[in-house]
Amino acid sequence: MERIVVVGAGVVGTTAAWVAARDHAAAEVVLVDPASGSGASWVAGGMLAPITEAWPGEREVLELGAASLARWPAFAAEVEQASRRRVGLRTEGTLAVVVDTADREDLDRIVAHLRAWGRDAERLTGREIRRREPALGPAVRAGIAVPDDLAVDNRMLLAALREAARNAGVCERAETVHAVVDGGVELASGTLAADRVVVAAGAWSATLHPALADLVRPVKGEILRLRARAGSLPPPRRTVRAAVSGRAVYAVPRDDDRLVLGATQYEVGFDPDVTVAGVRDLLADAERVLPGIGDYALEESAASFRPGTADNLPVFGPVSGGPDGLVACFGHGRNGILLTALTADVMAALLAGRPVPDDIRDLVEVTT
Ligand code: GLY
Repeated sequence: MERIVVVGAGVVGTTAAWVAARDHAAAEVVLVDPASGSGASWVAGGMLAPITEAWPGEREVLELGAASLARWPAFAAEVEQASRRRVGLRTEGTLAVVVDTADREDLDRIVAHLRAWGRDAERLTGREIRRREPALGPAVRAGIAVPDDLAVDNRMLLAALREAARNAGVCERAETVHAVVDGGVELASGTLAADRVVVAAGAWSATLHPALADLVRPVKGEILRLRARAGSLPPPRRTVRAAVSGRAVYAVPRDDDRLVLGATQYEVGFDPDVTVAGVRDLLADAERVLPGIGDYALEESAASFRPGTADNLPVFGPVSGGPDGLVACFGHGRNGILLTALTADVMAALLAGRPVPDDIRDLVEVTT
């Protein structure tokens, strides 16, 4: 019997394991992670926001994100059916707002992205924005409605994917993979033989084989989770992405009166600490936009590591100089949750030896 080992049980690895088991009933699929779902997928905002998250010059990232967003409604429905759990998809859309005149460039960039797609941006005054979202304060000067940028509850998604994977027959092993070697993976308990090894360990993928070392690096981010209390001004219904004095902050609502604020970005290796300055900036910037949050409960602060690549695009497929049978599936950068839907299709194709779907063939570089 063929054995497919998937290393890393974040949204990307769990999706890869799920589609592997779903499509290869004759194979044994083993998902290995010492702390399933505790990395970047746990510490995420959950934005499905190719337009408002696109950075200048990242045309391919935008196109890839858009192709994945188009898959999200069907992907969410399939995960929900396979797991009998909700994933918390929110379709209220996103508002991109600014508080300073100097930050209007941020809006111009988003308008340019929308125009490039043949879509017009709806520009809104501060007053019009507050009419739509009363939680936004008087400092907000202007903004844009981006109804196509959605959000999902990343933690509900993780739980649902895990259940879908289990229902499809995936076996889980709570162990650390020390290395990928010819013919399998090295665990503390010995070698686990495998015909194919899907490396989906995010930023940690770099540590698993010398051939992977330069392909991906940790890009630290911090988030805060807040909860509106009785009598607090309710959170916005839409995701709010703001530029505040040149810094980006976003606030993503959850279904239960909670709000996720993110996200700082640092190139500091695997430094796990949430910093005082990071928390201070997130709270100060978010409070300028959403003054009511001062009354909310601060429930959690957390840091994790986005898997960054040189071109900010994910790496899929075999890796030059890597062990036989290794299939890379990492490097989703700031867009891991968004790109999960597309990753399902890419991995289904790769594991079946088929070309990736036509609409993304020019966007997804599959290494050989
Ligand atoms: N896409 C959200 C983040 O990386 O912070």
